[in-house]
Amino acid sequence: MSPLSYRLIQSAAISTQKKQLHNQQFDDIYHHSEAVAESQFVFHEGNRLLSQWHDKANEPLFVIAETGFGSGLNFLTTRRLWQNCDNKPQHLHYISTEQWLLTPAQLLKAYQDFPDLQPDLVKIQQVFQLRRAGFHSYQIDKDITLHLLLGDACHCLQQLNAQVDAWFLDGFSPAKNPAMWSPDLFQQIARLSRPGGSFATFTAASQVRKNLQAAGFEVVKTTGFKGKRERLVGQFKTLINPEKDKQAWAPTPQATHPVDRITIIGGGVAGLCLAKMARQKGLNVTVIDRQAQPLAGASGNPFALMMPYLTAQYSPEALFYWRAFEAALRFYPKDIFKAIGVNEVKQQPRPDDARLGFADDLIQATKSGFYYPNSGRINTTALAPYLMAAVDTWLTAEVAYFAQNTQGQWLVQDSNRNTI
Ligand SMILES: C[S@@+](CC[C@H](N)C(=O)[O-])C[C@H]1O[C@@H](n2cnc3c(N)ncnc32)[C@H](O)[C@@H]1O
Repeated sequence: MSPLSYRLIQSAAISTQKKQLHNQQFDDIYHHSEAVAESQFVFHEGNRLLSQWHDKANEPLFVIAETGFGSGLNFLTTRRLWQNCDNKPQHLHYISTEQWLLTPAQLLKAYQDFPDLQPDLVKIQQVFQLRRAGFHSYQIDKDITLHLLLGDACHCLQQLNAQVDAWFLDGFSPAKNPAMWSPDLFQQIARLSRPGGSFATFTAASQVRKNLQAAGFEVVKTTGFKGKRERLVGQFKTLINPEKDKQAWAPTPQATHPVDRITIIGGGVAGLCLAKMARQKGLNVTVIDRQAQPLAGASGNPFALMMPYLTAQYSPEALFYWRAFEAALRFYPKDIFKAIGVNEVKQQPRPDDARLGFADDLIQATKSGFYYPNSGRINTTALAPYLMAAVDTWLTAEVAYFAQNTQGQWLVQDSNRNTI
């Protein structure tokens, strides 16, 4: 399977049995009726999340990774726990893998019996519309990012680079879905674990215990939810220090001082979108442009179309533009972007054109080319004030040089070497 293919994931084959969502392929259910309490008991307490967050309070990030996103219930319970915890790291990254994403309608069914969590669904509903295999990141809250890896868990984790603090192993029962508990998968989980990183799972199957131990985890069998089945918890024990090992050939750049402001050179659409993102992250934003007005150069067209650039053969560029288009659909509010549908008139596509394999809501073949149903028009008049709301300071000047002062901070200078 090529990571560059325009692959779509399939949705899950689901039925409802005794009011529980049942996966027909694996003949297993997503949750029990007490799923919220079970999620808290098995995954939060099993990973001692509150105590880990307390120990790492004010560290820049904490990373949780899960095998099996399912209905996102573990994500929502963890988000609640995070929101109610005062003493914690600055940012939570929640990585989850899923090969058969529920449809939005199946999602609503999954939460029928969890009214308490229903108001939170608005935060994750849009991810259930995704169909592109690969990595997707969503800023759910200012301090929580959800990374959804769509595809086979082992294949996705092989392509991931992360340092995970806590694992939620939740991929259906090992007897029904051994692929989610295999030595290959645990090898990836070990590779991605921070030394001392924890894991928790609902199962105590002996093969799972053996596979985890073989991958380097210290495993403890403990009492299950409501004293019923037993379950496994544990920690990754290793003598390897991944940070140090990596530094020899690929050092991670470190900020020399806390970053609370950013200067962007160029007030076109790219610069101002960056300004918006920086502002969302709490930075103070200065934009420098030779023009006194925003979007005054090539970005100042009175009419703008927004559509993905897809190519007839698989290509990294097309994958990039597909992802960028998805991100742009999330970025622009309704009064700025309107999906009016765009026709690209060239020639009838050949039968081997890779674009024929895309989802219909992205691109459809026509007799004379392609139709992009959810592409559309950007209101350029409304765009400038919308983006400018993120700019704290606008400086009109021509930038000629960069220099660094003795504290390592960057100075932006004009052609006379005067700092702007
Ligand atoms: C028990 S459910 C997960 C429940 C979920 N953690 C929640 O909070 O709702 C297991 C999930 O694992 C997914 N899954 C099973 N095998 C997989 C595989 N090889 N790769 C990725 N996902 C897989 C299933 O589609 C299913 O959604």
